[in-house]
Amino acid sequence: MANRIFSLGLVASVAASPTLLKRDNTTMVYSFKDVPITSNIQYIPCYDKFTCTQLEVPLDYDDLSAGTTNIAFIKHSAPQQPAMGDIIYNPGGPGGSSIGDVPLGLPRIVALLGDSYNIVGMDPRGVNNSGPLLDCFGGKPWLRDYFINKFFFDVDPLSEASFSNYYEMTGAFGTWCTQNLNETAKYVNTPATARDMLQYAELLAESQDKPREEAKVNYYGISYGTVLGTTFAALYPDRVGKFLIDGVVDGNDYYFGNWSQGPQQADAAVESFFTLCAEAGEACAFKGNSSTAEEIKERFDGILEDLEKNPIPVTDPHYVVVPTTVTHMDFRNFLTTSLYRPATVFPILATLAAGLEKRDGRSTASVTGKGIPPTGACDYRPLGYDSTFYRQVIACNDNNHNFEITKESLTELFKYERTQSTYIGDVWSMAVIPQCRNLDISSPASQIFPGYKNVKTSTPILFGGNLIDPATSSYELMSSYFEGSRVLLQDAIGHALISTTSNCTASYVQRYFKTGELPPKDTVCETDFKVFSSALVVEDAGLVTRHSTGRRAVDML
Ligand SMILES: *[C@@H]1O[C@H](CO)[C@@H](O)[C@H](O)[C@H]1NC(C)=O
Ligand SMILES: *[C@@H]1O[C@H](CO)[C@@H](O)[C@H](O)[C@H]1NC(C)=O
Ligand SMILES: *[C@@H]1O[C@H](CO)[C@@H](O)[C@H](O)[C@H]1NC(C)=O
Ligand SMILES: *[C@@H]1O[C@H](CO)[C@@H](O)[C@H](O)[C@H]1NC(C)=O
Ligand SMILES: *[C@@H]1O[C@H](CO)[C@@H](O)[C@H](O)[C@H]1NC(C)=O
Ligand SMILES: *[C@@H]1O[C@H](CO)[C@@H](O)[C@H](O)[C@H]1NC(C)=O
Repeated sequence: MANRIFSLGLVASVAASPTLLKRDNTTMVYSFKDVPITSNIQYIPCYDKFTCTQLEVPLDYDDLSAGTTNIAFIKHSAPQQPAMGDIIYNPGGPGGSSIGDVPLGLPRIVALLGDSYNIVGMDPRGVNNSGPLLDCFGGKPWLRDYFINKFFFDVDPLSEASFSNYYEMTGAFGTWCTQNLNETAKYVNTPATARDMLQYAELLAESQDKPREEAKVNYYGISYGTVLGTTFAALYPDRVGKFLIDGVVDGNDYYFGNWSQGPQQADAAVESFFTLCAEAGEACAFKGNSSTAEEIKERFDGILEDLEKNPIPVTDPHYVVVPTTVTHMDFRNFLTTSLYRPATVFPILATLAAGLEKRDGRSTASVTGKGIPPTGACDYRPLGYDSTFYRQVIACNDNNHNFEITKESLTELFKYERTQSTYIGDVWSMAVIPQCRNLDISSPASQIFPGYKNVKTSTPILFGGNLIDPATSSYELMSSYFEGSRVLLQDAIGHALISTTSNCTASYVQRYFKTGELPPKDTVCETDFKVFSSALVVEDAGLVTRHSTGRRAVDML
């Protein structure tokens, strides 16, 4: 990362892109195709309440001959201008789209961060609106969706034959994608995205007549966004402004490439479902006649055990459009998702479990998208968003072939993950790593992360997390790399601070962004919301969505 200060003149010389549009900057636009790609920040009104800009950046800041790509930004402006600055936001993934997430998640984001800064969503390289294009299926999204649905979901890791087939299929996927991905895919990785964030901050400073080299990035990253944030802070410690790193991934584990440390607390999160359900009474649809958490656990485990041997057929046309079955992996997939946001999803989990106990799989089939095939070739849609591939390319490039994937090492990894979590270990192991095996792409040396070491950042970093986080609980470890940083915890179950609401958390976070003041050591905030607190009983989770991409990928980081 030697070439930190990128010269604008050089961008301009490679900027003769055919997609460069000349447009007046007052027309409201609703697509990034209508946002000019420029070498400096030029926000134009977009999506009714926002402004958008699209920057042309070098694919490799250390080798300008590699060409350029476009990075998309969407901005929510603080009500009071001038704002205290821009906070770049990343919702996780890898592969999550900030452009999609900022409009959707804005109320939650503002409730946490306050409104003294502009909130800027940036699609990381390769993701959704930002280039370069990652496509293994020649612009035919229905082939991609068919493939994902058929080969990445209907796998039973408990069956040796199914596991072997999965292993070969993931290898085939890598070989296929290596043949079909554009060679620019190697520039899609986390260090390069971190560098793009610096580029944004420098261009913003320039537009405000401030010195480029003093520009700092303000940042809010969740989950995988914590890898991006800590990567930035490790590479550019003197360019760190206010940083909230929420739902903290073990960055060493991520870069090493086996993703083995995520679900350390997942079983604790499932146990809390049993406890909360027992306490909730009627509000928990799965409570039944059980009076203790232990009894509920026994019934719940019984469902999984039965499903492992006896999948449940579903044929009710109100719930599915083709006949299907619900397997233990379908239920484990949903269970994984529910642990991320217990406040809203545990009541649904309780409803599904109550159905499955009676061998009624209709709601589970519907909620998980099983029995709803991807829309077919006649229903043509342009190549859309698919987090699975984005995630794999970014994660695989980042691990840089560190973790050697053989059938034996993968078998070991599955075994190890089951010791981390009996409930979701298998779901976790399948998510990313197997797919890296034959993906023969290598990022340039300048974009390989050199590893974390102790650094002092120009502003202390605020780390955050819940007492029980099913996917990311490495705040102590990561905080230890950044001198002066502080951890703010929330007494909650779920993925990251933002998975629930807390006035206490929000007030510490907002004070930090406004004044730089950190919360006192060992602060643990209460939340405002209790799971199963309202009498919300989900009676019928059945809703057939006919325009579906098929089954939903489980949220990852
Ligand atoms: C549009 O561009 C002009 C000239 O570049 C600038 O003065 C004006 O502030 C811009 N308007 C918006 C809405 O960005
Ligand atoms: C991708 O970006 C578009 C805007 O171009 C947005 O409407 C969409 O929601 C985004 N996709 C996701 C999954 O966030
Ligand atoms: C790869 O992408 C670049 C930039 O978009 C494009 O010019 C080139 O033609 C692509 N190569 C292939 C083989 O598609
Ligand atoms: C995964 O990687 C970690 C290092 O991050 C290592 O300690 C662990 O043993 C590995 N696990 C497996 C199953 O390979
Ligand atoms: C609860 O007990 C009643 C009466 O013994 C029985 O009919 C019912 O099936 C039980 N419900 C569950 C969920 O076990
Ligand atoms: C949180 O703050 C809001 C607005 O200040 C207030 O209305 C609400 O009562 C507070 N909730 C709790 C639990 O303190």
